[in-house]
Amino acid sequence: MGQLILRFLCLIPLFYLVHCQLRPDIVDEIIPEVTSQGSSARINCTVVNKQSGHIVTWNFLDSKTGGDIISRDQNIFLNNPICKDGLRKYEVLKREVNQRTTYTLIINCLLPVDTGRYKCYIEISGAPSYSYPSKIGYLTVQVPPTITSKNDAVLELDEYNSASLQCEATGIPSPNITWTRADGFPLPTGFALFRGQNLKLSNVTKDDRGAYRCVADNNVRPPDEFLVSVQVFVAPECEAVQDTVGQANTGQYYVRLECKVSGYPEPELTWYRENTAIGQVGREQLNDNDKYDISKQIATSTLRFGWSWYTLRVKNIQANDYTRYFCKATNRLGSTEASIDLFETSECQGGNCPTIGDASFTQASLITLLLMSVISRFFL
Ligand SMILES: *[C@@H]1O[C@H](CO)[C@@H](O)[C@H](O)[C@H]1NC(C)=O
Ligand SMILES: *[C@@H]1O[C@H](CO)[C@@H](O)[C@H](O)[C@H]1NC(C)=O
Ligand SMILES: *[C@@H]1O[C@H](CO)[C@@H](O)[C@H](O)[C@H]1NC(C)=O
Repeated sequence: MGQLILRFLCLIPLFYLVHCQLRPDIVDEIIPEVTSQGSSARINCTVVNKQSGHIVTWNFLDSKTGGDIISRDQNIFLNNPICKDGLRKYEVLKREVNQRTTYTLIINCLLPVDTGRYKCYIEISGAPSYSYPSKIGYLTVQVPPTITSKNDAVLELDEYNSASLQCEATGIPSPNITWTRADGFPLPTGFALFRGQNLKLSNVTKDDRGAYRCVADNNVRPPDEFLVSVQVFVAPECEAVQDTVGQANTGQYYVRLECKVSGYPEPELTWYRENTAIGQVGREQLNDNDKYDISKQIATSTLRFGWSWYTLRVKNIQANDYTRYFCKATNRLGSTEASIDLFETSECQGGNCPTIGDASFTQASLITLLLMSVISRFFL
């Protein structure tokens, strides 16, 4: 019954204008948009019953000036420069599907200042602005982390002193800061990982030496990181890799004597041998020459941080080479040494020994072997 009366009343022009026109409205909530700096954001305002005299307007409520009209329908109202690859800062796309019209506001070349509330409303000519249908969408522009404050790349400490490693970072959202040791050993806290800007190193010992890594991560690629190398001044340590080494006495083979050394500042390494010459006592320092090769290996991943590997190659081993050898490491905090005994074996030892595949086992000897086996068959 009421419906009928309404239809009848709507035939009267003035009543129609005020009560019977279908009211325009914004139908969907505006989905919050989260995008990273430099990329583009799209926010939708979907309206129904839009007629002439209705204008869909986007307003950036959190602009520097406290509110700016960006667009009215598809017209851009702000200064709209090209910001990248022919793209302008703002665009509005319009699409109509089943009597719903979507006005998509595209914001390109996103910056942190683009973060904030974007209000879509339908201006209705003649109606007071408070009655305009409106919805608000929220845009967050994320910024990958940047480490802004940190230690120098190398931190040198005396033993039993303390220091703090610093790592501060900016980014949106605010990044998580974590410390680990690049060599996988536990931190001074006893744990593998520490969360926080300042990692305290107190009463440091040589075990605290190493590369410490700070990572700032907020899930916006890429994370930022830096390494600080912590060095503790310590007297040398020296270890023989093997403390006895054998080789045959033929004058043809060599041996490698090896020592691992650590200490800071980096120790000098010197090789000695016990003096066996008749009528002499004490030690003789060895130099790189025809008899000895002295070398230092580049630190490999199998060596702990701060350790170096030194090799003495003794060539053409013969009777007077069988004695005790020493590697002695020295820095300004002290010196220490390790010893290696070279002893005689009946067979050649190590990788430099001749084998069946060697040229020394000649074709001639193979042919002899074959002949002998043929002959033995023939006669037996
Ligand atoms: C915005 O609207 C377009 C076209 O109607 C649609 O393809 C897109 O998925 C919408 N985006 C969001 C975030 O709702
Ligand atoms: C520092 O460490 C050393 C060795 O670990 C220990 O003897 C000493 O008591 C410690 N000093 C302090 C102040 O903790
Ligand atoms: C920080 O770490 C916590 C715990 O892992 C995590 O829940 C949170 O999402 C992280 N924050 C950021 C900004 O990545």
